[in-house]
Amino acid sequence: MKDFPRDSRGIINWVDTLDRGLIAPRTGLTGGEKMHSVDFDVIFKNTASMPYVRFPHLPHTQWLTCKNCHPAIFLPQRGGNFVTMAAIIEGEYCGVCHGKVAFPPMECNRCHSVARENVGLR
Ligand code: HEC
Ligand code: HEC
Ligand code: HEC
Repeated sequence: MKDFPRDSRGIINWVDTLDRGLIAPRTGLTGGEKMHSVDFDVIFKNTASMPYVRFPHLPHTQWLTCKNCHPAIFLPQRGGNFVTMAAIIEGEYCGVCHGKVAFPPMECNRCHSVARENVGLR
């Protein structure tokens, strides 16, 4: 894996690795299963003075099924879940995976990736 793309902390960037075709994971146990990918984002804006969070469905549904998240971790409703950073770091919401099987919460900018409308204003 030494030539796989890495992020700023040296952790393998699996989204990039998949996009570049360096790996071709099976769709399930047999490989005959169908992936059901959807491509739409949800922007989270309760981010205090941090940039907004973009939650992209596409890279998630290239690895996971809807049922991995809905409804146990997230009700499938924009703004329908009370997510805090403390909860994520304690392993809830995004933190069920991020920090365990996906890139860790310390990679702030990969989630907080959308510039605020009111940069510099209080
Ligand atoms: C895996 C994605 C992810 C990563 C990585 C991440 N955040 Fe967050 N963060 C979120 C989400 C989702 C929210 C909730 C926003 C909402 O409810 O509108 C949030 C909210 C916040 C908030 C405001 C709400 C609160 O609970 O205080 C702050 C401040 C924050 N994050 C700071 C950080 C910092 C600093 C880092 C890096 C050390 C970081 N975040 C990394 C997803 C992430
Ligand atoms: C990795 C977790 C995850 C996976 C997998 C996932 N979603 Fe979501 N989904 C979310 C999050 C997070 C939200 C935003 C919830 C919020 O705003 O509180 C969301 C929101 C939604 C919404 C509400 C959109 C709106 O405008 O109100 C729908 C519909 C949805 N997802 C459908 C799906 C479908 C269909 C799949 C499978 C093809 C899927 N999701 C897979 C995490 C996921
Ligand atoms: C069920 C597991 C799971 C949950 C819950 C989850 N993620 Fe992910 N996420 C993944 C996996 C797996 C990947 C792809 C592998 C990787 O990047 O480590 C991914 C990738 C991402 C990416 C893509 C980064 C890029 O470079 O394109 C973002 C952004 C992201 N997640 C944000 C979030 C946010 C924000 C939440 C919570 C609102 C969340 N994720 C919840 C598993 C999850």
